[in-house]
Amino acid sequence: MEVWTVANQKGGVGKTTTTIALAGLLAECGKKVLLVDTDPHASLSYYFGIESEDLELSVYDLFVQVSTKEQILQSLCPTQYSNIDILPVVNKKSDTHFRSHTYIRCIFPRIYNKIF
Ligand SMILES: Nc1ncnc2c1ncn2[C@@H]1O[C@H](COP(=O)(O)OP(=O)(O)O)[C@@H](O)[C@H]1O
Ligand SMILES: [Mg+2]
Repeated sequence: MEVWTVANQKGGVGKTTTTIALAGLLAECGKKVLLVDTDPHASLSYYFGIESEDLELSVYDLFVQVSTKEQILQSLCPTQYSNIDILPVVNKKSDTHFRSHTYIRCIFPRIYNKIF
C-alpha cells in the first residue's frame, strides 16, 4: 500500500482536482484507490455524488473512536468508477475536531491493519 497526501492550507489551489485526476490515472493503471476525504468542505465526497450529511459513519468517526472492521468497511463508499472507493467526510461536524487531531497518518495503519 502506498499513501499519497494532497494537502495545502490555502483553498482554491487545486487539491481536490489533483486528487480526482490522480485517482483516475491510478485506477486506469489497474491500481485500487481508496480516497480519504479529510477536508471539511467535503468537495471530494460531493464530486463522487455522496451526500455526506446522510452518512452514519465517516472518516471523522475513525479518528475519535476505536472502530471495528465492520464499521470501517461500512464507512467506505464505492464510486461509479471501478477501482475507486472513498472514505467520505461529513462536513458539518468535522472542522473543529480535525484541528485537534494532528496525528492524521495514524488513521491509515488503523484502517489497513483491520481490513487487509
Ligand atoms: N490545473 C488547473 N488549471 C486550471 N484550473 C484549475 C486547475 N486545477 C484546478 N483548477 C480549478 O481551480 C479551482 C479550485 O480547484 P480545487 O481543486 O477545488 O481547489 P482546492 O481543492 O485546493 O480548494 C476549480 O475551479 C478548479 O476547476
Ligand atoms: Mg478542495
